[in-house]
Amino acid sequence: MDLSKSNSNSENIGIVIIGAGIAGLAAAVTLEKSNYRDYKLIEAQDHVGGRICSIPHNNGWLEKGAQFLHGNESTLGQLAQELGLISDEHVGEGEGLYLQENGAEMNKDLILEVDDIVKNILEDCEKFANNIDIEHNDVEDNIGNVLESRFYKYLKMKNDPIFVRNAKEEIYDWNIRFLIIDNACNSLENLSVKSWGKFKAVNGPEHNIFESHYSSIVDYLVGELNQDNLILNTPVTKVEWDDSNELTYNKPVTITLQNKKIISADCVIITCSLGFLKESQLTFFSPLLPKPHRTAIENLGFGLINKIYLDFDEPWWEPHIKGFQFLWKLSKNEENNPLRKKLAPWVYDLTGFDVVQNHKAVLLGWIGGKGAQIIETLSESQVIQDCKILFRYFLKNDSLPEANKCIKSCWGSNRYFKGSYSHITKKCDITGVSPATLAEPIWGKRIKNNLHENLPILMFAGEATHENYYSTTHGAYDTGVKQANIFLKHFVTK
Ligand SMILES: *[C@@H]1O[C@H](CO)[C@@H](O)[C@H](O)[C@H]1NC(C)=O
Ligand SMILES: *[C@@H]1O[C@H](CO)[C@@H](O)[C@H](O)[C@H]1NC(C)=O
Ligand SMILES: *[C@@H]1O[C@H](CO)[C@@H](O)[C@H](O)[C@H]1NC(C)=O
Repeated sequence: MDLSKSNSNSENIGIVIIGAGIAGLAAAVTLEKSNYRDYKLIEAQDHVGGRICSIPHNNGWLEKGAQFLHGNESTLGQLAQELGLISDEHVGEGEGLYLQENGAEMNKDLILEVDDIVKNILEDCEKFANNIDIEHNDVEDNIGNVLESRFYKYLKMKNDPIFVRNAKEEIYDWNIRFLIIDNACNSLENLSVKSWGKFKAVNGPEHNIFESHYSSIVDYLVGELNQDNLILNTPVTKVEWDDSNELTYNKPVTITLQNKKIISADCVIITCSLGFLKESQLTFFSPLLPKPHRTAIENLGFGLINKIYLDFDEPWWEPHIKGFQFLWKLSKNEENNPLRKKLAPWVYDLTGFDVVQNHKAVLLGWIGGKGAQIIETLSESQVIQDCKILFRYFLKNDSLPEANKCIKSCWGSNRYFKGSYSHITKKCDITGVSPATLAEPIWGKRIKNNLHENLPILMFAGEATHENYYSTTHGAYDTGVKQANIFLKHFVTK
């Protein structure tokens, strides 16, 4: 770390924010609001927003990334509400026709009954996080096992006729797929029971959508910045920091950009996705991060879900239909069912397709698990074909048209994300880490007027660093604001 050389290729500034997703933007806006301008917000890609990613389609927009703003009483929710960006429309998820493999629609009462059972089991698990001392066998288990054992206990107790029991199992299986997608985890067995209740919902409608598009809030935030401070298309390749007991350098952090430029700063806020950090922390940081941060990055979970939009130009469904959900028979014999032979292996990881608001003929499919990885390797036309066969299979109609256009997300293969969002794993419990571990600033010590002062030199922000709102945009926003305020407190306001 030779900081003595000073040439046109190097620059000294107050603070660098890496990543212009919602957390990085929130941090930058917080600095601007305090009239602090000695910062750079550096983004690897050619656009801001990160996992908020609205793309124009026909005369409207489609969301490749974040879909909903959960609740409206978070800081971000209130801001979006004040700016008039939120739609009055409240949408649901996983609605519409629940189709069985024989083409029949599932009985609605059974769907509600099973949804309730699953909801109750999960609500029970929420209590564990708040009662650390609770003595309960399930605390040491994982969400997948707890759900399964309690659901089968319930089935046994009900002693329903076999066809009812089978139907309930099919609905339960749909719920599992839904939860795998909702939590962006490969398997519910990876989810911690102990920490399940850490996640807190924000008051207000659970599924707010934007009047125009999600990126409208991103556009607003960018507008609040001094444009010279935002640098796009510029990957950071290395973050070198001073880990000595007493800071040696005036500027204790040096970052190297892919264009070979070097920036030295008092402090760096890193908002890269947890997926990126998992993959690159050993080469990205020099020296390595302190043990707690390293362990948190290793053990917090970061999974993959993707979205598939199918545009049919004209709807082939009735106007009142909100979506198509797929229920699979579970018995082993079904795997050899010859009718299933034509189906692509990835379709079993979909929950179904929802009709998209403001687009008359677009369906949105959510996919998790292995299927989410598989579709990243397929062409759009292959996905269209596979979906055509799937819809024809469930609706028993060989005249259903194929989509004219497919748009899918590929969050796993994007090197700057490597997945979708974070979850708290069982391994976090065992190693004693949580999003708060990652949010803890890394401090340096400096002697000033014979007094030691602690200064934050590296800080993490982003959805994976919020103890209660991980996996959300409003959580990511709060972490950016919080870390920027810590910087201001130590370097500016005193
Ligand atoms: C949140 O949404 C509800 C329902 O739409 C509304 O009544 C309330 O005023 C909103 N809250 C804020 C802070 O805007
Ligand atoms: C889930 O857990 C298994 C076993 O520990 C692990 O191999 C896998 O990578 C985990 N998946 C995720 C997404 O964390
Ligand atoms: C099958 O789908 C086609 C195209 O949407 C439609 O015209 C036809 O009525 C459907 N057939 C049945 C039996 O529902």
